[in-house]
Amino acid sequence: MNFKKTILCIGAGYVGGPTMAMIAYKCPQYKVTVVDINPERIARWNSDDLPIYEPGLDEIVKTVRGRNLFFNTDIEKGIKESEIIFVSVNTPTKTYGTGAGMAADLQYWEKTARQIRESAESHKIVVEKSTLPVKTALAMERILTSMNNGIRFDVLSNPEFLAEGSAVKDLEDPDRILIGSRETPEGLKARDELVKIYANWVSEERIITSNIWSSELSKLVSNAFLAQRISSINSISALCEKTDADITEVSRAVGMDSRVGNKFLNAGIGFGGSCFKKDILNLVYICRFQGLDEMADYWEGVVKINDYQKERFILNMLSAMFNTLAGKRICLFGFAFKANTGDTRESPAILIAGRLVEEKADLIITDPQALKNAMTALSDINGQINYVEDPYDAAAGCDAIAVMTEWDMYAGLDFEKIYKSMTKPAFIFDGRNILDHEKLFEIGFNVYPIGKPALTHF
Ligand code: UDX
Ligand code: UDX
Repeated sequence: MNFKKTILCIGAGYVGGPTMAMIAYKCPQYKVTVVDINPERIARWNSDDLPIYEPGLDEIVKTVRGRNLFFNTDIEKGIKESEIIFVSVNTPTKTYGTGAGMAADLQYWEKTARQIRESAESHKIVVEKSTLPVKTALAMERILTSMNNGIRFDVLSNPEFLAEGSAVKDLEDPDRILIGSRETPEGLKARDELVKIYANWVSEERIITSNIWSSELSKLVSNAFLAQRISSINSISALCEKTDADITEVSRAVGMDSRVGNKFLNAGIGFGGSCFKKDILNLVYICRFQGLDEMADYWEGVVKINDYQKERFILNMLSAMFNTLAGKRICLFGFAFKANTGDTRESPAILIAGRLVEEKADLIITDPQALKNAMTALSDINGQINYVEDPYDAAAGCDAIAVMTEWDMYAGLDFEKIYKSMTKPAFIFDGRNILDHEKLFEIGFNVYPIGKPALTHF
């Protein structure tokens, strides 16, 4: 079959996999290939057991795989054959050297740029999909053109704004598509090529274009703003617990101001996920590097409040349970960093589980999708930890339940039955405010929500 365009994506992760599946689904006239250095990951993309869980993704992949979506590990061949190359390899926080713990680790990204340069035999449009520090495209251009072999490369920035758990919906109906380019005739031509792809299913007014540095920075700032809202509401939840105000009522009142808006105002145990912390720290690092210390301190505060919220949760558990957790059985309801995903990267549950083990509690962890990842995330922790699929079995014999993830299924459980099976006094710490607290109290639980007065029988 003759395809109109050939597209490659390097990096078959949470971003690359679903994004390319959507492009292939919406554009049957294009051939889309996804490559990765990890053969196991590619094998899973080619199987019925995809490497990531996203509602609706299985169906899309089944429809397009083998038709115009292909997964393999032949990066070199992929580069040679494609006109447009998306780069969506990981850019984690650096763990070594200058900027350790703050700056983005660009080693995989740079290695990929060199690979593209070495294998390319014709003009390529290279699209940054990974989230990168502002001005990274300049470094990419320099690497790509350093062979001076007459091959032209145009670098574009096209950050991905999908959220996990709603990736398919976000890709199908995005708030906006952002494409940053050089403002030269060649840069604008390359930009139009990418606009054409998205225009297959996204209306033109939602496809916005900008200069390349604005596009890179907008991605970092978008994540920083979202995370900042969560830290803002979480900081107020601490005050609510001291003053008998109710965070849900406060957040409703504040969010009904249309200038503020009502989304991303749910207090909880803090934000997790692979992006928020990494991207804010990256922003902080860039600010410090540019001598903007006041600005760096401001954004660093968002991460500090997030850490404070997790620590506060532990201290609340400890003080509610008579200042000792040693030998007590605590059941964690959920381990994923949010509902509808099996991803546990930076999940607040990781720190909370670690701290509970330090207090010598026995942990029972249940989650409908994330148990495998939970085991890996906690593999370095020495302590009593059991992983149980069924939430009723998990809670039986426990002193306390702590809700870590806002899975819908938890609100629908039979808590009378759970209460009967637990050690008394039985405690519930609702780290996501998803349960019916009054009802739980009537059943007999001592209930500790976030940002609301506790309901206790003592
Ligand atoms: C990644 C980045 O972390 C994020 O900053 C960016 O916004 C999007 O890409 P994600 O897709 O969640 O996010 O990362 P991950 O699931 O780790 O996938 C990255 C993939 O790249 C992995 O499958 C890895 O094997 C692959 N990879 C990494 C390569 O193919 N080549 C490399 O050199 C390095
Ligand atoms: C985020 C951005 O939303 C997305 O645009 C970007 O591309 C990647 O980073 P993601 O991390 O997948 O997406 O999930 P998100 O829905 O933003 O949730 C992040 C964390 O914030 C989760 O731990 C979630 O539970 C928490 N959260 C979210 C809250 O605690 N309260 C809220 O009101 C919303």
